[in-house]
Amino acid sequence: MAKKIQPDKIFLAPMEGVFDPALREVYSKIGGYDSMTTEFIRVTQNILPPKVFYKYSPELKQQGQTKHGTPVYIQLLGGDANLLAENAQQAVELGAPGIDLNFGCPAKTVNRHDGGSILLKSPDRLFNIVSQVRKSIPKEIPVSAKVRLGFENKDLHLEIARAVSEAQASWLTIHARTKMEAYKKPAHWVYIAKMQEVIDIPVIANGDINSMEDYLKCYEITGCKNIAVGRGAFARPDLANILKGELEYNGEQVMELLKEMAVLYERGGLQNKITPRTKQWSRFLGPNYPLIHKFFEKYKTQHDVQNPI
Ligand SMILES: Cc1cc2nc3c(=O)[nH]c(=O)nc-3n(C[C@H](O)[C@H](O)[C@H](O)COP(=O)(O)O)c2cc1C
Repeated sequence: MAKKIQPDKIFLAPMEGVFDPALREVYSKIGGYDSMTTEFIRVTQNILPPKVFYKYSPELKQQGQTKHGTPVYIQLLGGDANLLAENAQQAVELGAPGIDLNFGCPAKTVNRHDGGSILLKSPDRLFNIVSQVRKSIPKEIPVSAKVRLGFENKDLHLEIARAVSEAQASWLTIHARTKMEAYKKPAHWVYIAKMQEVIDIPVIANGDINSMEDYLKCYEITGCKNIAVGRGAFARPDLANILKGELEYNGEQVMELLKEMAVLYERGGLQNKITPRTKQWSRFLGPNYPLIHKFFEKYKTQHDVQNPI
């Protein structure tokens, strides 16, 4: 493949309950991911204390980077522009290298409390939130937004893009689905192209980019060389390296990653996460790595997942 159509920047998309600090560390070691984002931090009533930020992002104590040097942005979710701005300020004072604003979360409880994708219904509110947060922190610290194409339908997709751009966000990540489409295939990449046309900030394409073939199709439609990968990366940890033309991991190497994750949980006093997270990850990995599939099938039948690795 011609080098020029390889991606420029690959972001590890935030995934609550998946890409937590331990897994971010593992993915950072694998390499290929230019930046990462925390799971969303809900902002509802007050300025969150430092311990909350440190819990979501222990990387704050390392200049906002993983041990292997990947920057980790803090993602905030909420509907109150002032409060979000104050919390962004707090995060930056603690060492955050950037703030990402979540306007995509489809969860009913989140939406009912004026957070996530519900805000896509009001581009003026997106503008207000992004502007307030932008103004509250130093210019050199990026403020980005992550959106979907709309809430019920795609009618407001251009207004959404314009609102974020006019509020001077540093970039816009577009998950090419509406909230109603949840995670149903396909992602509608053509809307990324349309949104990109009306704004002049960088756009990060997101949704269903799980392979080189997907990336090339998405690139053909959007011209986007900057992408964010979520579930595809969970199922193929070396996805960023594959997209950048580097060597692929084999089953044994991926098995090692599962062990590294377990060690990190153990070190962090989070032993209770080892079994559920190992099961969760191996379910995603199984279809791509027969070795892992076989290994965990065996444990399932023995009902012994206490110490699976
Ligand atoms: C389990 C799960 C958790 C997610 N958590 C977040 C989150 O905390 N913040 C966010 O902006 N997006 C979140 N997302 C959305 C992803 O970042 C991404 O936009 C979506 O999965 C589409 O990309 P993909 O097809 O590469 O997975 C989550 C998605 C999943 C499946």
